[in-house]
Amino acid sequence: MTAADHIAVALDHASVDDNLDLIRRLKGRAKWLKIGMRLFFAAPERSIEAARDAGANIFLDLKLHDIPETVRGAARSLARFTPELVTIHASGGAAMATAAVEGFREGGSPNTAVIGVTILTSFDPHGLAQVGFALPPAAAALQLAEHTASAPIAGWVCSTAEVGALRARFPSHRLIVPGIRPAGSDPGDQRRIGTPASAIEQGASLLVIGRPIIAAPSPEQAFDDILREVATALEAR
Ligand code: C5P
Repeated sequence: MTAADHIAVALDHASVDDNLDLIRRLKGRAKWLKIGMRLFFAAPERSIEAARDAGANIFLDLKLHDIPETVRGAARSLARFTPELVTIHASGGAAMATAAVEGFREGGSPNTAVIGVTILTSFDPHGLAQVGFALPPAAAALQLAEHTASAPIAGWVCSTAEVGALRARFPSHRLIVPGIRPAGSDPGDQRRIGTPASAIEQGASLLVIGRPIIAAPSPEQAFDDILREVATALEAR
């Protein structure tokens, strides 16, 4: 595995064409491209085809969350894209997580790794309390992971603040970390942020990076700078 295997670029531009342009610019650099709801709902076939043409792995970040049978059906429908990674909300519970995994298998994509989103990185403790979580973000993320670990999912999405604790508890699951901000960059709407190096040092498998790369004057340069930081952190771990 190289440093590029640990970076997923979030294709979060507002326009489909800007995302397709970004895919072309990052061809040969980005090994993972993350297609979220915005791009997928606007142009599912085109975006996946473009990412495949660029030689990238597909991370479909659709954060599925519904009753188990509905999620099973959604997974069966998505299986035709054979994505490498797909997200569900861990708060949907272990039965829903199992249904997602089974749905991909039934739909013909048994190798799709299903990943549970724990607590969105846009939540701070106050915001989480407002939606009824009694626990602070770190404890809530660990509880969601513990609960869904009984399902055959591949891992979880969590913030830099939780990744160390989750890695200690789950040595071989995939831990995917958004809310990544190189030192000195704008947090935007993210609340629980960390640098690429700190997330990698604490055991992240894959960093999700949007604005620090896609909104940079040169996305190629921003990608390469982060790649170097990740490579150095991997050597130290
Ligand atoms: O621009 P930025 O680097 O903040 O983008 C982060 C990306 O990661 C967005 O596409 C967002 O949807 C996604 N994400 C997140 N928090 C999660 C799961 C996914 O920010 N818990």
